Amino acid sequence: MKYIVTAAALATLCELAQATVYLAGDSTMARNGANDGVTDGWGPYLESYLTGTTVVNKAIGGRSARSYTNEGRFAEIATLVQANDIVVIEFGHNDGGSPNSASDNGRSDCPGTGDEVCTSGKDGSTVYTFARYVSDAAESYIAKGASVVISSQTPNNLWEGGVYSDSAPRFVEYARLVTGDIGENAYYIDHFQAVAEMYEKLGNAETNALYPKDHTHTSPEGANLSANAFAQAVRSAEGNPLAEFVRTDIPLVY
Ligand SMILES: *[C@@H]1O[C@H](CO)[C@@H](O)[C@H](O)[C@H]1NC(C)=O
Repeated sequence: MKYIVTAAALATLCELAQATVYLAGDSTMARNGANDGVTDGWGPYLESYLTGTTVVNKAIGGRSARSYTNEGRFAEIATLVQANDIVVIEFGHNDGGSPNSASDNGRSDCPGTGDEVCTSGKDGSTVYTFARYVSDAAESYIAKGASVVISSQTPNNLWEGGVYSDSAPRFVEYARLVTGDIGENAYYIDHFQAVAEMYEKLGNAETNALYPKDHTHTSPEGANLSANAFAQAVRSAEGNPLAEFVRTDIPLVY
């Protein structure tokens, strides 16, 4: 007996295939991203707050939107992504600094929120803005039928020195602005704000205990809490396609 699979049936099968959630980010998202055995990124903890989807964590320590672009890492995700998949993009921790300087580290973005360009003071290469790197990547995924969640960076320890301060680095606002500029199929999540509110609630001692090494990288417990806060923020974000995959029984952490 022969079975003939029609194109229409195949399309239906593809629609039924599980959506994949890709994560693009830095050490604060990568598994053991700081490579110290003491801290961890939040990406590996996300899957336990979701259902009906698979998480593929492509985050890697030390990267910025610029270096993730120049190393071909956004492009690699574009070769994998399929219609209805979701790509979460979260950068900022390594994006500051000045590309014009002679000691340009290959990570600093050109300051600004649009088409500004800079020239690397080290090798003369053209450097674009955070917005340009993120929107180019996002648009390549959206063109394949995927959606993009642009997430603001996690905060550093907001209780450092025993006093709470939630002032945000400029990349938090940049992430929000670029999401609006991209428009359809791009969704902003203010992960910074969600974790900030969680830390305010946790208080000084409990928050400081989540930072065993420095003020950027958290313990595994802190990473799990950051994933929980992200999932909570997504669940309450109207129209966000990732929201339907967030479990209904997650703890509320802020
Ligand atoms: C993360 O936190 C959740 C909720 O508190 C908990 O159930 C889970 O066991 C934690 N996961 C890990 C890997 O520690």
